[in-house]
Amino acid sequence: MTQTITVIRGDGIGPEIMDATLYVLDALKAGLVYEEADAGLVALEKHGDLLPAQTLASIKKNKVALKSPLTTPVGEGFTSINVTMRRHFDLYANVRPAISFPNTKSRFGTGVDLITVRENTEGAYLSEGQEVSADGETAISMTRVTRKGSERIVRYAFDLARATGRKKVTLVHKANIIKSTSGLFLKVGREVAAQYPDIECNEMIVDNACMQLVMRPEQFDIIVTTNLFGDILSDLCAGLVGGLGLAPGANIGTEAAIFEAVHGSAPDIAGQGKANPCALLLAAAQMLDHLGQPDNATRLRKAIVATLEARDSVTPDLGGTGNTMGFAKAIASRV
Ligand code: NAI
Ligand code: MG
Repeated sequence: MTQTITVIRGDGIGPEIMDATLYVLDALKAGLVYEEADAGLVALEKHGDLLPAQTLASIKKNKVALKSPLTTPVGEGFTSINVTMRRHFDLYANVRPAISFPNTKSRFGTGVDLITVRENTEGAYLSEGQEVSADGETAISMTRVTRKGSERIVRYAFDLARATGRKKVTLVHKANIIKSTSGLFLKVGREVAAQYPDIECNEMIVDNACMQLVMRPEQFDIIVTTNLFGDILSDLCAGLVGGLGLAPGANIGTEAAIFEAVHGSAPDIAGQGKANPCALLLAAAQMLDHLGQPDNATRLRKAIVATLEARDSVTPDLGGTGNTMGFAKAIASRV
């Protein structure tokens, strides 16, 4: 049986890490057929559109996409294509595991095993409500949190805990200061938590959560939080386990799912063959789980761990001298 997935090669280091990832997936023989689609700067050049209709149609049809990072120019004029795609398909759950790997440059070594579940469609990441006054002196942005959005993301976190045998969910918020939006998230979060008596739940204010993550990351199991906090915390968590090169994420909705690295297009190292492909590979492992291929997902993760253990061809971010494709080949030889 084959499964067609949409593949978006992205820009910056995107094409390099996608080539590497598809090489390993081919070695896994997971029966995947790739349908390439363009998005971002590449799509703008080729089709005159940052997010062409045929790309959206491909994802809609296949329901699953593997996506490399897309550059979003900072500041004026551009809405992030990533944010647009998440909103278009209502990919409300951004699921970002951070798990210790051997031989990284992390300060912790071992003991980190947590998942950030980030609300992915509302909060501070709205395209509307961004205003700068005519004199350029005052800027305003809007944040929107809904009961529906909060309920489904917290429920997702508790259901994920049950499905994966995790024991605890931490609601991260700033309801002491941002009483409206963060307050509603916390209120709804408590209501949902009460429906899961088998899973421990605690609450933590986001600034303390940052400190606790750095001091005692082992106290966390699943973190559920609003969009902006989840974005920031998941990069922090990536740092705990050895950097962005090891941090994957899934964007899950009811009609589609997009799997990608937490990191961006890394323009500083693009085109140099230095990028670590593991984040996208680990996202591919999440995709295999989602596609009902847990055995292949486990084979892939084990091959990555074994390659890190052997320090075989690892990239500079992990202290090695390997290159992207060499690293991928070393992983592929272990699947
Ligand atoms: P970034 O994540 O691209 O890079 C941050 C740092 O981590 C850089 O020093 C980079 O070299 C390093 N890094 C990232 N991925 C790596 C890898 N696989 N191997 C080795 N080192 C790696 O973040 P930055 O520079 O803030 O953003 C660059 C662009 O990416 C921006 O346009 C941003 O909007 C976009 N972006 C896109 C995302 C997506 O497509 N989902 C997510 C985050 C950012
Ligand atoms: Mg981010």
